[in-house]
Amino acid sequence: MFSIRHPVRTWYGAGTVEKVREEAEFAGAKTALLFTDKGVVGAGIADRAIAPLRAAGVDVTVYDECAPEPAIGDLESACGRFRKERFDMIVGIGGGSSMDLAKSMSVLFTNPGEPRDYLGVELVPNAGLTCVLIPTTSGTGAEATPNAIFSVPEKGVKLAIVSTRIVPDAAIIDPELTLTLPQKVTAASGVDAFTHCVESFVNPNSSHLSEHYSIRGMELIARSLRRVCEEGSDLEARGDMALGAHYGGVCLTSAGAGAIHALAYPLGARFHIPHGVSNSLMFSHVMKVNYPANPGKFARIAQILGEDTSGLPIEEAAGRSVGAVERLCRDCGVPTRLSEVDVPAHVIPELAEAAFTTQQRLLGFNPKGLSLEDIEKIYRAAA
Ligand SMILES: NC(=O)c1ccc[n+]([C@@H]2O[C@H](COP(=O)([O-])OP(=O)(O)OC[C@H]3O[C@@H](n4cnc5c(N)ncnc54)[C@H](O)[C@@H]3O)[C@@H](O)[C@H]2O)c1
Ligand SMILES: [Fe+2]
Repeated sequence: MFSIRHPVRTWYGAGTVEKVREEAEFAGAKTALLFTDKGVVGAGIADRAIAPLRAAGVDVTVYDECAPEPAIGDLESACGRFRKERFDMIVGIGGGSSMDLAKSMSVLFTNPGEPRDYLGVELVPNAGLTCVLIPTTSGTGAEATPNAIFSVPEKGVKLAIVSTRIVPDAAIIDPELTLTLPQKVTAASGVDAFTHCVESFVNPNSSHLSEHYSIRGMELIARSLRRVCEEGSDLEARGDMALGAHYGGVCLTSAGAGAIHALAYPLGARFHIPHGVSNSLMFSHVMKVNYPANPGKFARIAQILGEDTSGLPIEEAAGRSVGAVERLCRDCGVPTRLSEVDVPAHVIPELAEAAFTTQQRLLGFNPKGLSLEDIEKIYRAAA
């Protein structure tokens, strides 16, 4: 038994950002609230969605103050500022940070209470405003998922609103929008996308349907992540990454993530490390612990990453995935050790405690059960 959620309509291809106009017309929208950030505006990308909306006569209010890696307080501020106004449609154009704010706001116009009330699984009672999400990084897959992630500073962790009601009405994936993405963000968000495909693939909840997206996503990213890090103007490789990241989001909606994300969240929340980088720090170290739990799947990951595993015993072939992932991250210039990002060893017990106590939802999906001691050992191995 399995289920999957998708945006009602998904557009893909160079130039598809224009389709935001068609989505507004389909929704009969006269007013829109558009979430983005200053980096996306500065790169001239936000205007690629604003112009066709305005050309269609939609009155667009632009909120460009989405903070990178938003805290729940950022959602509360946006809510305080706009909730009393009326809009027909919400648009999010940017990376996961802008899209998470947009999709959360889409239900805060139609539901009572405070943003914090909805941190948790399926706590949103009413459908939201029409929501169109347009990714400009190739990473989070947030345009596909029922998740929106916020750090909760007083708990030192990241928590999620997980609700089918925040899967958008339309996702518009236009690889042209990622051509301006700086190398560091390209690399880190690409690693995030790869972890989505890997964690959903090895997840006990995976199914024929989710595996289809996980495998194809891994193949697209394995063939093009190094390339986009070297040559950001390669539109074909950008296209692979945009689609691979979207598939990563789709397989997450069906199967879920696991211990890489569970251990990465306390790092992101406490040290403000970008999400893709914190995943990279945990990626190979968690895989090393996980691969014996499902050697067949980890051997497949090794093969997709180009390892020659022919003739190897299955356990050994599976073990090759660990080094292959570490090399992928390193080749793209994303750190794989805590010391590289100045996380001191003395905080490890606190990180382990935070992951263990607040991330049971994700830890429950990991192929191998992890105790508090196991988690601490993984952080120490990554030190
Ligand atoms: N909702 C989900 O399912 C989900 C999944 C994984 C991660 N996340 C969350 O998403 C956030 C991270 O998102 P992200 O990695 O996409 O990065 P981001 O949204 O934080 O953006 C990173 C930086 O890149 C810039 N940028 C984005 N697109 C650009 C472009 N085309 N050209 C130039 N600059 C551009 C932004 O201005 C920003 O400074 C985290 O908060 C993470 O927890 C959400
Ligand atoms: Fe992620």
